[in-house]
Amino acid sequence: MNALLTKERSAAPQIDLPFEAAPPSIAVSTLGQRHLVTGLFSGIGGLEVGLSRQGHRAELMCENDAPATAVLNAHFPKTHLHGDIRELDEIPSATTLLTAGFPCQDLSQAGTTSGILGSRSGLVGEVFRLVEKHKTPWILLENVPFMLQLGRGAAMEILASTFEKLGYRWAYRIVDARSFGLPQRRRRVYMLASNVGDPREVLFADEAGPVESYFESRLDAVACGFYWTEGIRGLGWAVDSIPTLKGGSGLGIPSPPAILLPSGAVVLIDVRDAERLQGFPVDWTEPAEAVAKRGSRWKLIGNAVSVPAAEWLGQRLANPKAVLALNTKPHHRGSQWPTAAWNVGDGRVSVSISEWPVYVQPKPLEAFLQFDTRSLSYRATSGFLARTSRASLRFPEGFIESIKAHLARSEPLPSDANQHRLKSKRGEAATHGSEKDARALPVRQNNRIVEDRRQIREPLAVP
Ligand SMILES: C[S@@+](CC[C@H](N)C(=O)[O-])C[C@H]1O[C@@H](n2cnc3c(N)ncnc32)[C@H](O)[C@@H]1O
Repeated sequence: MNALLTKERSAAPQIDLPFEAAPPSIAVSTLGQRHLVTGLFSGIGGLEVGLSRQGHRAELMCENDAPATAVLNAHFPKTHLHGDIRELDEIPSATTLLTAGFPCQDLSQAGTTSGILGSRSGLVGEVFRLVEKHKTPWILLENVPFMLQLGRGAAMEILASTFEKLGYRWAYRIVDARSFGLPQRRRRVYMLASNVGDPREVLFADEAGPVESYFESRLDAVACGFYWTEGIRGLGWAVDSIPTLKGGSGLGIPSPPAILLPSGAVVLIDVRDAERLQGFPVDWTEPAEAVAKRGSRWKLIGNAVSVPAAEWLGQRLANPKAVLALNTKPHHRGSQWPTAAWNVGDGRVSVSISEWPVYVQPKPLEAFLQFDTRSLSYRATSGFLARTSRASLRFPEGFIESIKAHLARSEPLPSDANQHRLKSKRGEAATHGSEKDARALPVRQNNRIVEDRRQIREPLAVP
């Protein structure tokens, strides 16, 4: 535990607001209440489920994807569901918490702060359009850490300065889903803003870190997750957990990560275990099959907020705690956005804190899985090996040998042989899939595999 991180109560914050529209005194904070939630870009309701477990109630949800709405209708029969956000005139006036895990591509198009408020070019602009009409006391945004780099930080600048312009205090922190005992490495930015309270009492009141950032073990002792669709520029890799479940892939359809088991088998997990790896009950996304193929469930799960992360936020919104005494320094406009920051009225500061607010011991990945796995196919395995043979990556000792041994044990399907012949004729390596992500490279240290966080780069793909 970092000695600087103590649980001492900090003095009541002195709010000296540089905002254009100053929020009311912090004394009228709505913290501690159970919120009436309007969920925008609800997906399959990861945020809403987690929040509801702490007593907050979704009044309205907004989602325009047919498989996602099938899931929401099945699980939230009493909540009003609206389709396209661009056709949502306003949110219920009783809303005290507005949530939005918005598609972040739009931020890059939104341009300037005035652009985001003034035009409909970015979907996050729709969030602020609704906030301008009804100044919701609390707003929770969720997105990928890539948001911090998007447009060299311009996207975050838009969010921060829009909140400031509207008179909101804001705070954000990257949080890893493994903090909550899920064997999935999934880092997400949670940004909370309020015009009545102090968002730091939610985001910066818990700290279990820095948790040892190296998870080390031997390939023959622990299951390792990796993206078999990658392997040239990088490899999504996680020790005793799976790399981030994704809403998209270079294959066009989201593909599940593979797991190299200690036995040497290379397997793909069942979609129901993917739901569990996000903290959802088994078959949560099954209603999507009424309107789409079973495969569509992967995208929905990959796009979702991990339920326990939302539950932690819900718990702190209901029961805020004093802000920890943390190391901070001024954050200057134009400099790189840190992994955590706030502006509660006395300027922007960058905050030193881990991505682990709590630490729930996870089950080992192999023991976590409840459903039958299937073997990674001959074609997928040979494609992965073809890519890695062209790559200049360092893989852990024994990893490529294990994959080759898996290939040797696999049977090609007749269609695989045809595919191989065709590609050989064209002089191409037999590959399957492509890669868009450049990510954590596993490296070897002292005969151990470690997840080297210095090399972790977030996926270029955005939800
Ligand atoms: C990153 S996902 C959010 C996932 C959600 N937080 C969850 O836990 O499942 C973004 C969602 O925005 C939805 N979306 C995109 N454009 C939209 C629009 N114009 N109106 C409403 N929803 C939209 C997508 O279908 C997708 O489900």
